[in-house]
Amino acid sequence: MKILALCGSPRGDKSQTKVLAEKVLEAAKAQGAEVELVDLSRVRLEFCRACEACHQKPGCILKDDGTRILEQMLAADGLVLASPVYLNQVTAQLKALLDRSSHFVHCLRLTGKYLAVVTTSGGGGGTDVQAYLKKYGITVGAQGVGGVDAKVPLNPGDLATAAALGETLVIAIREKKQFPDQLQAIESQKQYFGKLIAWRKDHWTFEYQYWKDQGWL
Ligand SMILES: Cc1cc2nc3c(=O)[nH]c(=O)nc-3n(C[C@H](O)[C@H](O)[C@H](O)COP(=O)(O)O)c2cc1C
Repeated sequence: MKILALCGSPRGDKSQTKVLAEKVLEAAKAQGAEVELVDLSRVRLEFCRACEACHQKPGCILKDDGTRILEQMLAADGLVLASPVYLNQVTAQLKALLDRSSHFVHCLRLTGKYLAVVTTSGGGGGTDVQAYLKKYGITVGAQGVGGVDAKVPLNPGDLATAAALGETLVIAIREKKQFPDQLQAIESQKQYFGKLIAWRKDHWTFEYQYWKDQGWL
């Protein structure tokens, strides 16, 4: 079982979000998961250029770390999306990566995977960002198992919540947990994109074939 954490803070090892994400991973590792954290402040990550090549053939035209991280996301069973709250949103670092995953949205490529969300803020403004990242999960087919949202400075309770989240994530993956409301939301997403993919089949050739291969069309 592989769990990949993506941390969007620009502050490297000073990041409190990273501290929490590492706690989630530490607990997951103790439960037997293979874990890795990618610090997005330490990688080369270009912006999506909206060239649409990823809809026409596999992969991304940008040969940077973003392309590799997207592959790591596909290989993981569980994801931890971690970001400080910046102006009531995720950081630009994390958003840049998520924008690069538009093929995942079209083809619900994270179907069957599970997501945990980590946010920190100065003023306690993490609720909207938690909701945003959980919604991202639904748009790519992944079910959310919960989140930890902490106001800095962190306290021992935040670390305990993060550790419990790591355990919850491992259990959800191991037991292939089903959250009916989320599965319904994912199904609605699929209905919508099924129509779009069929309509744009001559343009989004790779994605149309992917849907056919899955038996979804
Ligand atoms: C550019 C910027 C924007 C921020 N915007 C918000 C905000 O909208 N709401 C909030 O509560 N905190 C905000 N903060 C505070 C950070 O969310 C907070 O310090 C966070 O815990 C930093 O996480 P890190 O240690 O992982 O980098 C902002 C900080 C910066 C630098």
